This record gives sequence, structure tokens and C-alpha cells, in this order.
Amino acid sequence: MLRISHTIEQQLINAIARAFPDAAELAQSRGESLNPAFGAASKPEFGDFQANGALALSKCLGKPPRQIAVAIAEQLKLDPEFNQICKPAEIAGPGFLNITIKPEVLAQELQIQLADPRLGVAPVSAEGNGFSPEVIVDFSSPNIAKEMHVGHLRSTIIGDCLARVLEFRGYQVKRLNHVGDWGTQFGMLITQLKELAPEALDTADAIDLGDLVAFYRGAKERFDSDIEFQAISREEVVKLQAGDPTSLKAWGLLCEQSRKEFQKIYHTLNISLQERGESFYNPYLQAVVSDLAQAGLLVIDDGAGCVFLEGMLSKEGTPLPLIIQKSDGGFNYATTDLAAIRYRFDKAGDGAKRIIYVTDAGQANHFAAVFQVAKRAGWIPPEASIEHVPFGLVQGVDGKKLKTRSGETVRLKDLLAEAVEHCSNDLRKRIKEEDRSESEDFVKQVSTTVGLAAVKYADLSTNRITNYQFSFDRMLALNGNTAPYLLYAVVRIKGIARKGGILNTKQTADLIFDQPQEWILARQLLQFDQVIQDVEIELLPNRLCSYLFELSQSFNRFYDQVTVLKAEEPARSSRLALCGLTAKVLELGLNLLGIETLERM
Ligand code: ARG
Repeated sequence: MLRISHTIEQQLINAIARAFPDAAELAQSRGESLNPAFGAASKPEFGDFQANGALALSKCLGKPPRQIAVAIAEQLKLDPEFNQICKPAEIAGPGFLNITIKPEVLAQELQIQLADPRLGVAPVSAEGNGFSPEVIVDFSSPNIAKEMHVGHLRSTIIGDCLARVLEFRGYQVKRLNHVGDWGTQFGMLITQLKELAPEALDTADAIDLGDLVAFYRGAKERFDSDIEFQAISREEVVKLQAGDPTSLKAWGLLCEQSRKEFQKIYHTLNISLQERGESFYNPYLQAVVSDLAQAGLLVIDDGAGCVFLEGMLSKEGTPLPLIIQKSDGGFNYATTDLAAIRYRFDKAGDGAKRIIYVTDAGQANHFAAVFQVAKRAGWIPPEASIEHVPFGLVQGVDGKKLKTRSGETVRLKDLLAEAVEHCSNDLRKRIKEEDRSESEDFVKQVSTTVGLAAVKYADLSTNRITNYQFSFDRMLALNGNTAPYLLYAVVRIKGIARKGGILNTKQTADLIFDQPQEWILARQLLQFDQVIQDVEIELLPNRLCSYLFELSQSFNRFYDQVTVLKAEEPARSSRLALCGLTAKVLELGLNLLGIETLERM
């Protein structure tokens, strides 16, 4: 319904300009446009939209807002195109305009949505000049020789969802896995392995990731306490970064070992990602330093090359430095991110128009600093945007860090397996209670789908900025804002389809509705394109989750309270069409969340 809402907004602007030419002139002289303060109605009884612009105009025109609203409504009455779409605007409260779309126009819009494989969501290429800009989503990004933890799981799930929404809108999306595969950790690890497990440095599969993680932990402990070990490790890093063949081979093997483990998780979660780790930017690090020096931003402080940040102060009130090159010549996490930004916006590199980073909120300062330096260096084109999409911590039900019963950090693999197992137990119990006979394959398939869906949905449906408590019981509940509830709604409609035949039979004839439950559902279905646009702009998947949840609730209310299969024509076909469209929107919406749907469960 975005198209219609844009049309009405423009009609309102025109009406205001006709009613108050002085205000229009004033706005124009300031280079502004008139603001009708137009948006969705705050309550369904107010109609579809409301315009509160009369309130602001009243200040600038020195007239009571109600009088202004009346004048705008008068002008709208004279606009034949407005009258074709809407009922006469109504004035409410101190001067709000309530706008209601005519039922036949809504029915027509539903027809269009039903016939459209994109369900009313226009592709970006249909806007502007037919161009599909490139967007980079930097997400997941675990570190080699370390286990992927729940924070990486959040990044993976949220990043995948954002990438899906942007892809569906028609952007060229690069899903980049910025794995931590470079830097000091390799120096430590290689030094440790040389001593304790040299075979791991020249033979594939000599050790598994679990061992690697243990070796890394040991190495880190020694690094922090043993000066000699520190020095040797530093030499190892220098050798690696200089391209020493034996070091590179060892490095390659270690990366491969981790990569295989990560890939298993991506496979389970059905995530596609292009690995482009920190090491990729190694050849571009020197250019970062020279560019910054040339721009006059680089300051040598205590032997290290830094850029002093504007507006970011230390406790003592002095500007904080961002270290670009350490005094020993080494580069760090921030340098790599700067090189990555430079490469990603550069036409000779990715030529991206928007870059999105999905990491925990703990990295907010890092990104603020890096973005600032990149901006001052002139690496971010004026029309491009760069955004950090932060998320809160994953906690246990006790509000503390998520841990296993024995107090260790939870491994992702185990966590996903546990979700599936919970589901399979629930399902078996239900099958028994309902005296159904189902095959082992069915149980396996359903519990895998529902289990993974529940983990993803629980993560996506909370506002990502807040910390979120991980609870199997909550995420697997059949009622409430959960994946199983939404999947049930889809299954329910599939059942109706099996009994009622084709659901969208009414594509060419008129859709006739006379029940309030029908109108509520119809209006919600028409909001789908708006919701997708909001997610694209605000990058908040929970907005899509809430929409799908409310849609399922409206559907269930409609189906519980209104006769469908036994209704007379033309109501029966119209109602079946609503069922069909609801199923399509739910399926597409869930798909954009990275969730598969089921025929039965
Ligand atoms: N590897 C980092 C971590 O585990 C995340 C990297 C995020 N992406 C980036 N371009 N810095 O915390």
C-alpha cells in the first residue's frame, strides 16, 4: 500500500498549498516542503492514515489548528483523485485529519497483491534509475582457532535476515564473513604448536578444532606471562605477515581446520556467506597508513602511528587516539577495518553504496572510531552509508552469561542440537496424546525445522539492541510470539487449502468483505510492503517478526469467528483468497527471517 500512501500524502501537500498559499511560499523560500505529518492511523477506528500537520501549521499561521484542518479537508473534497481513493477526511481532536480508504480500493489493492509474486513489495530497480546498488553485509565473522560463540550466532542470524530482506528488495548483496584470520593470535598459536604438536603445522587434519582451541588457550596464557614466549610469537607474526612459506602453510592448515567447523554450523542454519577474512586486506594496510599521512591525519605518538579522534575523549578529557600502526610496525584490528572500508567503497574494489556491520554492542566504539577516521580520510563517498548494527548479549534465563550446567561456555553445535531434541520430545508427546501415527522421518524433519526456527526466531523477535535471555521453554511455546505459533498458522491454512481447494480463486472477480475481522486482516496484509521498507531502513528484524505475529493472530481470530469453507458465494471465495494471501505473506515473511515452513506439524 506504499504507492497509495505516497499518493495520498502528495494530495495532502497539494491541499495544504491550495488552502494556505502563504505557508507554501514560506516553506519554498526556506527550501523545505510542506509537512502534512502523515502516517499510519494510530488506532484502527481512526481509519487508515492520519495527518497531524495542522498543529504545526497553526503555530506558523497563528490560527487555531481545528480551523486549519477544516480548510485542508475542504480542499481535499475538491480533489477528484482523492475522492476516488478515500472517503471524505474526518477531523478529530484538536485538528487531526483521519483518512479512510474506500473498501473497493482496498479490495482492488488486495487483488494486485494476490496476483503479484512479490506480494506488493516493489523491487529497488523500479525506483529511481533502474539501478540496483551494491550493499555489503559484514556478519558472523568468527575467529580462527576459537570456537564460534553465541554472540557469533546472533550476528549470523541477524545478518542473514538483513541480507535476505535486502536481496529480496533487489540490492546486489555481498554477504561477507570477515573472519579473524590474521594477527598476533597466529604468532602465539604457531609458536605453541611448534613445541607441542608440530605435525599440526604441516599435515591436514592432524588435530581437530577442539584441540586447536585448547592449544590457543594455552598459548594465550603463556603469552600473557612469559616474556620470551611473547618475543618468539611476535617474530612468528612478522614472518607470517612477510609471507614466509612455512608460516603461510601452517596458517593455511589452521584456517582450514576452523573453516570446516564453521561451515557445519552454516550448513545447519542454511546460511550462505562469502569468506573474506582479515588476511585479505593485508596487502592494503600500508596504503591506509600512507593515505592517512598524506591527508595530514597521522600523528606519531610514542612511536605508534595514530589518528586523534574528534569528540571521543579519554577519562582525562584528552582526545583518544586510534592506533593505526604499532611502534613495532604491526597493524591491528582497526587498521584492517580501515583497509576494508577503503576497499569496499572504492570503485576498483567492491564499489559498495552501503555497508552494514552486525556485531555485539561492545564494538560500538571501535566502529564509531573507524567510521570517523574513514570519513575524514575521504574514503566514504558522499552518497554512501556505513552503519553498525549492534546487538545485546545472549544471557541465560538467570540474566547471567549463558553457560552450561557445569559452568562452561555453551558450544553452538550443542545448543542447536539441544533445541532440536527439545522439539522432538515435545512432538513425540503430542503425537502420542493425539493418537496419531507418524513416521520417524516426519518426526525428524519437523523437529529439525521447528527447533532451528525457534532459535532463529527467538533471536530475531526481540529488539536486537537489548540483551536477550535464551530459554528453550519460551522459544518452543506453541502460544505467544514464537516460531511454532507462526508455523502453526501456516500449517492451519495449508489444511484449509487441502479441504477448500485453491485459495486464490478470486483473482479476476471482485473480493467482497462484510465482516470486521476480514477488514482487519485485509488491511494488515496490505501493510507488508511498508514493513519490508521499514526493516530495510531501520535494520530491525523484530519489526518483521511483530508484523507476522500480529498477522497470524488476526488470521486466527478471523478463521475462528468467520465461516469460511461453509460460507455462501461470493463470501466463500473472497475469504479463501484472504486465507491464501495470508499464507503467502507468512511464508515469504518467514523465509526472509531465514525460517523454513512446513506442510504439517
Ligand atoms: N571477528 C570479530 C569478532 O569476533 C568480528 C568482526 C566483525 N567485522 C568487522 N569488519 N570488524 O568479534
